[in-house]
Amino acid sequence: MDRAIITTGRKNQRSSIELAKAMAVKLNILFVERQNLSISALAQLHNVKYVLIAKKNSLRLVVGDNEVFFHPSLAHLRIKNSLKGEGDRLIETMALKHGMKVLDCTLGLGADAIVESFAVGEEGSVIALEVNPYLAAVVEHGLQNFTDDNDNVVQAMRRIKVINTDYIEFLESAADNSFDVVYFDPMFRHPLERSTALNPLRDIADHRAVTLETIAEARRVARYLVVLKENSKSLEFKRLGFEKICGGKYSPIHYGVIEV
Ligand SMILES: C[S@@+](CC[C@H](N)C(=O)[O-])C[C@H]1O[C@@H](n2cnc3c(N)ncnc32)[C@H](O)[C@@H]1O
Repeated sequence: MDRAIITTGRKNQRSSIELAKAMAVKLNILFVERQNLSISALAQLHNVKYVLIAKKNSLRLVVGDNEVFFHPSLAHLRIKNSLKGEGDRLIETMALKHGMKVLDCTLGLGADAIVESFAVGEEGSVIALEVNPYLAAVVEHGLQNFTDDNDNVVQAMRRIKVINTDYIEFLESAADNSFDVVYFDPMFRHPLERSTALNPLRDIADHRAVTLETIAEARRVARYLVVLKENSKSLEFKRLGFEKICGGKYSPIHYGVIEV
């Protein structure tokens, strides 16, 4: 893994220093005093790719010109629409109901995981995996601490269990039929230029393609469905054996579904 440090915002509040020091221990990285330096100067000084910033009880991750932080905005809107009775394509495709167990193999910024968590309710569970330890830390901290005026969103966020691991390792050690649905939303082989929500992730995310071995493991671990999100024109569905495809005719995104 590329190296990282953690620092605070320029204001250096005591709570930010405490958060930065605690995360430094958790992630086994160096805590560095901000000293009024720019983030790029700090990155150069310590020869690191990643700089985490603790600021006002939240974490930010900076890589070059990109800055990533947690915000539930998209999930908030989807949950609000779902409560109004408008369907959510992911909830429908995954056939999520209260009490179900979901394995979300690709946490990213967490929007899909929050919607899944809302759909399965407090009797259900969502475990979300992220291979990048710094992104996993930023999103996990956000899920546990971010406040939102919609209590459904807050409760859904708090219930998600984040694990920093490679999904293949997790799947290999998971028992047969131990989740109802296993979900993958990998970085698309051909990214959609319009997907501004995911643009900051491009330099941070793991871009490896999903393998046939991974899908075989997912089929073993899933009780009902394995679901893959991809660009609607993607050849990945065929390559990986997803025969059923869901998604609007004009939607740039489709979901492949394997019924196990
Ligand atoms: C497109 S993003 C997921 C977006 C997410 N569904 C959301 O709503 O924000 C894909 C994420 O999966 C992660 N990822 C890719 N390969 C992985 C692997 N083998 N194990 C775990 N996470 C992986 C990437 O680092 C990236 O953060």
